[in-house]
Amino acid sequence: MTPADLDFVAALVRAHAGVVIRADKAFFIETRLGPVARREKVPGVPALLEKLRQTPDPVLTRQVVEATLMQETSFFRDRAVFERIGKVLLPELAARRPDGRLRVLCAGCATGQEAYSIAMLATDLAAPAAVEIVAVDFGQFPLEKARTGLYTHFEVQRGLPIRRLLAHFDKIDENWRIRADLRQMVQWVELNLLDDLTGLGNFDLVLCRNVLGSLTPEAQTRVLASLEAACRPDAVLVVGAQETPALSAAFRPAGSPGLWQRSPTVAPVPSSASTPVPARTQA
Ligand SMILES: C[S@@+](CC[C@H](N)C(=O)[O-])C[C@H]1O[C@@H](n2cnc3c(N)ncnc32)[C@H](O)[C@@H]1O
Repeated sequence: MTPADLDFVAALVRAHAGVVIRADKAFFIETRLGPVARREKVPGVPALLEKLRQTPDPVLTRQVVEATLMQETSFFRDRAVFERIGKVLLPELAARRPDGRLRVLCAGCATGQEAYSIAMLATDLAAPAAVEIVAVDFGQFPLEKARTGLYTHFEVQRGLPIRRLLAHFDKIDENWRIRADLRQMVQWVELNLLDDLTGLGNFDLVLCRNVLGSLTPEAQTRVLASLEAACRPDAVLVVGAQETPALSAAFRPAGSPGLWQRSPTVAPVPSSASTPVPARTQA
């Protein structure tokens, strides 16, 4: 892939998803775009990009952008964070709701392991909480996989304790499928986080993990403002354990790296007035 081709793709991805593509990602991007080129029946990635330069078709643009996004994820990724969510935050939040019902947003949910991890935590509580999970991602393909709830042996070995595997999954040939009661707890939404999120409603727990660090400073500011607006007055916001977002003064650390609790007594700073200090991912 030539530097000009990489620049072209990087500009598309920045404009459409707010994601930064670094110069050392050329091999990764070319590998990811190979299947798109084959679907388009063009002889290779350079021909695919030339086609897009000649005719900027929105459907093909979206496919190219989606193909470049990193969907790395796993069950209970960052164990300490999930332990705190399961043992402390979900029970505390549920106890504060008269009907015990909670709404959870997973923003940038990839292939679904994060949303299903929350579903398992809620189901395994001593007093199980009635939890509705809305899981959002840019990508159509990861969401299709998430919806099936079907994971390979390799995927369930990454982070999922055997006790929970046996309790919540059925073995289907060589794969494992999460059970219907947990699948029914999650609503999967194909949505760009740069778009208006108000239609999703308000949430008690908002996860946006390992997404912000890949965004441009402008996109981070925009997404954070939307996520803050989606938080109920005492909601908990969860970012990646190594991400340090520029949250408004209404949020304070909540006991584990990446966990932030909104204080109902501190009014959030209006998003237009917040200082855009970029979230960053430590090496
Ligand atoms: C590295 S994965 C993180 C998955 C999960 N949150 C975790 O921490 O394991 C990042 C996800 O964010 C999604 N994403 C990136 N930019 C997005 C955008 N602008 N709108 C919606 N999803 C986006 C990608 O498609 C990808 O699935």
